[in-house]
Amino acid sequence: MEDEISSFFESSPPQKNMEEILENLNEFIKLNSSSQGGRRIVCVTSGGTTVPLEQRCVRYIDNFSSGNRGAASTENFVKAGYAVIFLYRSSYSHLEAVKMAVMDQQTAVAEGSLLKLPFSTIYEYLQMLRLIAEALKDVGPCSMFYLAAAVSDFYVPWKSMTEHKIESGSGPLDIRLAQVPKMLSVLRSNWAPKAFCISFKLETDSKILMEKATKALRKYKVHAVVANELSTRKEEVVVVSSSGNVVVRRECDKPESFVEDNLIRLIVDRHSTYIKESHN
Ligand code: PMT
Repeated sequence: MEDEISSFFESSPPQKNMEEILENLNEFIKLNSSSQGGRRIVCVTSGGTTVPLEQRCVRYIDNFSSGNRGAASTENFVKAGYAVIFLYRSSYSHLEAVKMAVMDQQTAVAEGSLLKLPFSTIYEYLQMLRLIAEALKDVGPCSMFYLAAAVSDFYVPWKSMTEHKIESGSGPLDIRLAQVPKMLSVLRSNWAPKAFCISFKLETDSKILMEKATKALRKYKVHAVVANELSTRKEEVVVVSSSGNVVVRRECDKPESFVEDNLIRLIVDRHSTYIKESHN
């Protein structure tokens, strides 16, 4: 697996503005970890990653996600006093969700408690996730990963991708997609082993959801998996962890409420316990 991960990164196109991103990131972490005893820092990932089919990309495969979960969660983390690194999908269709919750948070940006980092492709997402994880390593238990982005499982390796627009007119198109290595295990074991880590499990078939989420919890050794079913994801989620399963619902009698209001309250509580236990 480690070989697959190394070869994924070695063959990825280099991240644009890498130095600038790293500089902003380090400054953000320094500012927040040294402010009044140190703020907790969470990296929230949001939106779907794209898989380009051409190097000079005209066509791409997309992953479903409106970006609402990540945006609403970010808003709640900021309210709870966290510094948030918001790794989000930049696209016109996602802008509404981002605008709704995060663009309103100009004060948070100005105060230095919100850093917005946009991505589009699977290459950009995973390179930035690694960069953030390594930059947060020294923050230890006070850091958290909240991985709500919908990450592509298949991709076209950069080196086997055609440079120019794929020509049409010569019949059906055959494309072979390689498997994207799962980054959760390496995030937990190498990149940021002391961070509190929450991953998500999305299914469209409710019959297999809980089994898959429980399996992911064991396999990737994350601290909790948020299980959600596509059609009901805005109403309820189940937080699966070693201490049992907790159903979290939107407050139906309050039209302005989101499931993320209760979800983030629970996650923040769990993070507090984790920090306390890590200091013992
Ligand atoms: O954006 P919304 O419309 O509001 O919807 C929110 C959501 C449904 C997208 C969100 O709640 C959600 O479930 N996100 C995760 C969707 C997903 O990609 O699930 P998965 O089962 O394919 O992946 C599970 C986990 O593995 C994820 O935490 C992902 O970060 C991780 N992963 C996935 C692929 C990969 N190559 N490496 C990974 O580490």
